[in-house]
Amino acid sequence: MKKTLIAASTLSLCALTLSACGGGDSAAGSGGNGGSDGTITMGFAQVGAESGWRTANTDSIKQSAEDAGVELQFSDAQQKQENQISAIRTYIQQKVDVIAFSPVVETGWDAVLQEAKAAGIPVILTDRAVDVQDDSLYVTFLGSDFVEEGQKAGQWLVDNAAEADADGDGDVNVVELQGTTGAAPAIDRKEGFEEVIADDDTISISQSQTGDFTRDGGKQVMEAFLQNEPEGIDVVYAHNDDMGLGAIEAIEAAGLTPGEDIKIITVDAVKDGMQALADGKINFIVECNPLLGPQLMELAEKVVAGEEVESRVVTEETTFTQEQAAEALPDRQY
Ligand code: AHR
Repeated sequence: MKKTLIAASTLSLCALTLSACGGGDSAAGSGGNGGSDGTITMGFAQVGAESGWRTANTDSIKQSAEDAGVELQFSDAQQKQENQISAIRTYIQQKVDVIAFSPVVETGWDAVLQEAKAAGIPVILTDRAVDVQDDSLYVTFLGSDFVEEGQKAGQWLVDNAAEADADGDGDVNVVELQGTTGAAPAIDRKEGFEEVIADDDTISISQSQTGDFTRDGGKQVMEAFLQNEPEGIDVVYAHNDDMGLGAIEAIEAAGLTPGEDIKIITVDAVKDGMQALADGKINFIVECNPLLGPQLMELAEKVVAGEEVESRVVTEETTFTQEQAAEALPDRQY
């Protein structure tokens, strides 16, 4: 709440000095020319600070805005859609040159994006997609292919199913820690994973619940999973590192060895996750790159200048085994 208030008061100040906040003559998809001195003002509505990934993403956006000379209005929605909608409405009122945001959930954006379009302010989606009737409500979407991330996680399990079956009963019992309900990465990572494991009859998901992308959420849900099945869990598939790290705490508290008694697959590859992978507590991580800031600023400059941009920009990503994590850790930026 504190950060939201700080952002809101920054915006109120901005209301009194509109010229410093950009001109806002831009049309969705074509853009204006920035402020009178050419400075672009971007309103960015962030999801929150729920994970290590999100912190790295926020740092990347703030640093890249500074490097590019973009005046950034930043708000933290604390994982609440209503906070993001109200931040976007404030940016519209302030006539920023461009709005960028990473939507908490996929649906429920049509009205506010129509307001941005009517005000002639182009919108760039970063990290997460929206599900809207009219695709012209945003100019471009920069971010990962979350379905592919889920597929990569599923493929590792299919390739390592025999090893993952710790009790050797011929069934690989998976529990799934889902991201925030209704969020694109939660929906897509589930879909991609399920699609690939469907090819292997020995693998099944016995329990699946949201841990809201947080470490605490992952720990609490894993405690419940373990209580429901004290001996039967072979694999944890966590939609991000933080929930996987929370699950590790619950597994250790239950007297089991993460990475051995229960195999763990996560998504993100932030430093804490990579350390746990190198330490043998996680078995496989699918990378999701949070360093979107430089590409976002480039896109914003082009959009505001009225240049054509691709409607979809997919981030390049890899995967890590335990050995690869140990090698990559010393140079890991986030
Ligand atoms: O949208 C990206 C996801 O959001 C990351 O995987 C997760 O850690 C974050 O909270």
